[in-house]
Amino acid sequence: MSRITCPVLSTKVTTADEAASFISDGDRIGMSGFTGSGYPKAVPSALAERAREAHARGESFGVELLTGASTAPEADGVLAEAGAIRKRTPFQSDPALRKAINTGQTEYVDTHLSHSAQQAWFGFYGDITVAVIEVSAILPNGLLVPSSSVGNNKTWLDLADKVILEVNSWHPREYEGFHDVYYGTRLPPERRPIELFEPMQRIGDPYLRVDAEKVIAVVETDAPDRNAAFKPADETSRAMADHVVDFLRFEIQQGRLPKNLLPIQSGVGNVANAVMANLAHSEFEDLTAYTEVIQDGMLDLIDTGKLTAVSATSFSLSAERAEDFNRNIESYKGRILLRTQEISNHPEAVRRLGIIAINGMVEADIYGNVNSTHVMGSSIINGIGGSGDFARNAYLNFFVSPSTAKGGAISAIVPFASHVDHTEHDVQILVTEKGLADLRGLSPQARARRIIAQCAHPDYQDRLQDYLDRAVAGNPTGRHTPHLLAEALSWHENYQAHGQM
Ligand code: COA
Repeated sequence: MSRITCPVLSTKVTTADEAASFISDGDRIGMSGFTGSGYPKAVPSALAERAREAHARGESFGVELLTGASTAPEADGVLAEAGAIRKRTPFQSDPALRKAINTGQTEYVDTHLSHSAQQAWFGFYGDITVAVIEVSAILPNGLLVPSSSVGNNKTWLDLADKVILEVNSWHPREYEGFHDVYYGTRLPPERRPIELFEPMQRIGDPYLRVDAEKVIAVVETDAPDRNAAFKPADETSRAMADHVVDFLRFEIQQGRLPKNLLPIQSGVGNVANAVMANLAHSEFEDLTAYTEVIQDGMLDLIDTGKLTAVSATSFSLSAERAEDFNRNIESYKGRILLRTQEISNHPEAVRRLGIIAINGMVEADIYGNVNSTHVMGSSIINGIGGSGDFARNAYLNFFVSPSTAKGGAISAIVPFASHVDHTEHDVQILVTEKGLADLRGLSPQARARRIIAQCAHPDYQDRLQDYLDRAVAGNPTGRHTPHLLAEALSWHENYQAHGQM
């Protein structure tokens, strides 16, 4: 049976090529997609082809692209390879796009994911001219059933002048009921409290709304989401997970956490995924999550019965786990809710619920400033994503990373972070496979001693401790956060050979 049962919108069904022909040079596109989930599968490729043809004729063709977060090779990838993205926000992780950004061809605005919708509403990016949104069905009354991510789709549908819908029948029709789209957002000074008290509490509608008059094209697709496979858990990730579990156990003993913990947030990437997967072997039961993405590790935790309820904005599953989920979707109903990203990552909800946030990092300095985004202070990897939304407002936050990168050539603990996404004031607990440094309540020098002793790799420990000792000795009137700045920055130059993305 057709996924498009609305009589008005079914008259607008057309090809991806025709839909792309409605997009012009200079358009600002609000597109669906959050990691490799829920992004449009056909229109971006058709648009990339248009851009290539225009460039071959010597004409300029490029767009500004706003999404929920990163997308996939069929969206960011094809457009970046065609040289068609002039400006991009709020998050990316595509190799071709990363190259375009790091070589200066594409402007990138790396912003907190909970802020991106309101920044668009405030008009910081200019008018959104076109929305291109993937859904899993269109109902007879014109309401839209979202697919595997919600992200900023509501905002793009509301703000855009014109709307292109992709209806993807690869997604199970049973997605209906998995979403909660909050329509209560108002701008200051009319803003009111968001009355969300439990991860699974519904505060919105199961559907997205669209003004049918704005819809210029509906394209049917049947193509899978695409997320890269995760690195399997190894000794390093198991060691990091063990440190996290031991620490949580201690906090329960101290009466600072209930037995079933508090809602968990787990970030993007291999390390956060592996830590989640390893929690499956812990004794914790009846866990809940209030998070941004559901990666394989979190789905594993649901399958073991340890995790009973997850609020997120998107799936981010490997191909194999996505197929599993689609086959068994009914068994997850009532245990997973996908929200708009302004709510999944909302500082108010994160603070109220008392989230335990676990995010990956690139490096941390000895005082606890964390770099989540840049190599050598200049080349972006992905972006800050939701890590700031959660870390700043969480009850507990962990930043996790192997103690070294590039086969041991780079230390994840450095004297001075080459870029700072999370300041020492926001960072509570650092974890490497070597150990865990609880920084709560510590002054800068005490933090430095603990980070070097607990988290640095033994190959780098003496050098870091020597740096700290000399910085203390050399700063008789600067002993609050002592540094030898020129030396601290030159530390990164040793990584030149390994340090480019
Ligand atoms: N110097 C140079 N490169 C480094 C590095 C360092 N100190 N630390 C990590 N890297 C490189 C790794 O070598 C790897 O590159 P490769 O695949 O070419 O080897 C890449 O960064 C990813 O590292 P990996 O160890 O596989 O970790 P990850 O997949 O867990 O990703 C982040 C780590 C920091 C990139 C990732 O967590 C991220 O993008 N975080 C920011 C966004 C975020 O936290 N969102 C969460 C909110 S939901």
